Amino acid sequence: MTMPSATIRAFGELSDATPVEKVTLKNRHHIEVDVISLGGIITRILTPDADGQSDNIVYGLETLADYEQDGAYLGALVGRYANRISGGKFSLDGVDYALATNNGSNHLHGGEQGFNKKVWQMTPFATQNSAGVILKLVSPDGDQGYPGELSVEVTYTLTDDNTLDMQFVATTNKPTIVNLTQHSYFNLAGTGSVLDHELQLNSQFITPVDNNIIPCAELMAVADTPFDFTTPKTIGRDIDTQHEQLLLGSGYDHNYVLKTEASPALAEAACVYEPTSGRVLKVLTDAPGIQFYTANFLAAETSGTGQEHHRRGAFCLEPQCFPDTPNRADFPSATLLPGEQYSTRIVYAFGVR
Ligand code: BGC
Repeated sequence: MTMPSATIRAFGELSDATPVEKVTLKNRHHIEVDVISLGGIITRILTPDADGQSDNIVYGLETLADYEQDGAYLGALVGRYANRISGGKFSLDGVDYALATNNGSNHLHGGEQGFNKKVWQMTPFATQNSAGVILKLVSPDGDQGYPGELSVEVTYTLTDDNTLDMQFVATTNKPTIVNLTQHSYFNLAGTGSVLDHELQLNSQFITPVDNNIIPCAELMAVADTPFDFTTPKTIGRDIDTQHEQLLLGSGYDHNYVLKTEASPALAEAACVYEPTSGRVLKVLTDAPGIQFYTANFLAAETSGTGQEHHRRGAFCLEPQCFPDTPNRADFPSATLLPGEQYSTRIVYAFGVR
């Protein structure tokens, strides 16, 4: 069996001639993960199906030019604040801040030049039983309107236990807000719709949204609604139900509550099973919430690799703080102070059944 490996090579140049690299991680069990230094984007994840046949199970694009233009955050490392901030406004210690509004009147996923559009410094590594890459970025004070210089370090580790273990840490020199996540679009069959994938989501509540897709006052219990995935069901079973929340999101595009107080405990948030390939994906995290998004806003297109992207042809499970937390004293905090360390962890566990 071949040892885990992490290889780095040139991937291309951005339109302003900035060079971008690509790292390929391989483990002993034929799992391969490609990561580029633009946006810490995961461009490909190859995993074997139940018969040992490998397929790419995430949406990717062929060229850097495609990634520079991408507005769907395909595979991206999202920050400084994943998800929406109402009106792009928040205040901290009595100071009002205005962020770029790039989603109607809201700030979404860190703004127009969010972390997905920055070039990160990548350092690959390999051990006896893992292969990984450390990604580093310093986001200057005022970047996209956020206060404080933020130093971010993200480590993606592909293990021989068939997990992609992602650790996110950050420090700041002024009080600020942070909420980092990973925005991979999965299709465990490699192609087609995800409506027949079976999902279990270990959450009893969502943060229901208003018509700006911003959480409204109360949590909503999922019991007896199309949002209940506490026992496995197909993603498509109830997706077209005439439920107000599904109409607002054009499908599932909601934050599921995992915990109501921040804690470092890692737990299984979701398990997805795709019956034709037999592939299973589990998502573990210590984050308080997880956005379940069924790619409702994705337009049908064929990527340069020939892979077809469709509306509802992929799903995202994005561990995160709740949307609009900086404006919500009742949500687990997203504030980071100088001297503290922000830390969160996301694990994708790959398998077959
Ligand atoms: C959001 C969607 C958004 C998508 C792509 C998801 O995390 O919940 O509303 O369209 O990202 O930007």
